[in-house]
Amino acid sequence: MSQTVETPPVREGGEAWQKEVAPPRVDPTLVGDRTSLLPAALRASGRSAAIEYQPFGNVEVRNGLQALVEIPLMIRALRLPRSARVLEIGCGRGVALPVLDDRLEPAELIGLDIDPALLDEARERVRNSCTYATLVEGDVRDLPFEEARFDLVIDFGTCYHVSDTMDGRRAALREVARVLRPGGLFVHETRMAQRLAHPLRSFGRTLPWWAVPSLVPDRSAVLWSVRRKIDR
Ligand SMILES: C[S@@+](CC[C@H](N)C(=O)[O-])C[C@H]1O[C@@H](n2cnc3c(N)ncnc32)[C@H](O)[C@@H]1O
Repeated sequence: MSQTVETPPVREGGEAWQKEVAPPRVDPTLVGDRTSLLPAALRASGRSAAIEYQPFGNVEVRNGLQALVEIPLMIRALRLPRSARVLEIGCGRGVALPVLDDRLEPAELIGLDIDPALLDEARERVRNSCTYATLVEGDVRDLPFEEARFDLVIDFGTCYHVSDTMDGRRAALREVARVLRPGGLFVHETRMAQRLAHPLRSFGRTLPWWAVPSLVPDRSAVLWSVRRKIDR
């Protein structure tokens, strides 16, 4: 059995910070074993995320650019709030987590991904960079968190690729809306960003915003957009 939830290291002089952070409520059935890419709950449901999601290759130069240029730019352009409770869905190798921790100084930072092998890499990255982040294995279409748990949910393209079907993308957006508190923000890549990064794979991939009327457009900066959760 792999350990899917890790307590972040204690921030220097910040024991109080760590005490405030309740560990995420993780459904024990989502604790996967390393012999399978799919969480137990998904295997039991017969839904195959591994087939629906086709992994992208690892390009170190791209990771470096993202960490050094793209994410700091995004944070500034979108004026993202500090000290928030932040969830990154599809955190993969955890490239964004050290930057988000450093720039946003979140009250809490959780990276979630369905792939335990990528989470292992993320765990190492987080440890090596002394990042205060918790890693959770789970499916964005069935998030293991209670309602209104987060102030900020960030997605670097996962919702576009979570599934070939509109159903899968709709389920992901609904879960994002559910775990955001009213007034909370969902940061996501625009279609233009997807077209530039993955011209073939993103062809025809749209996000079904009509299915989540509680997420209303808030602000945008070319490659990224923000939706705000309202009470509906
Ligand atoms: C476009 S990649 C983004 C990776 C990472 N954010 C980055 O910038 O390197 C999409 C990520 O979503 C993850 N993913 C795919 N389907 C998922 C699902 N149903 N639930 C959670 N994560 C998923 C993949 O494992 C992958 O790490």
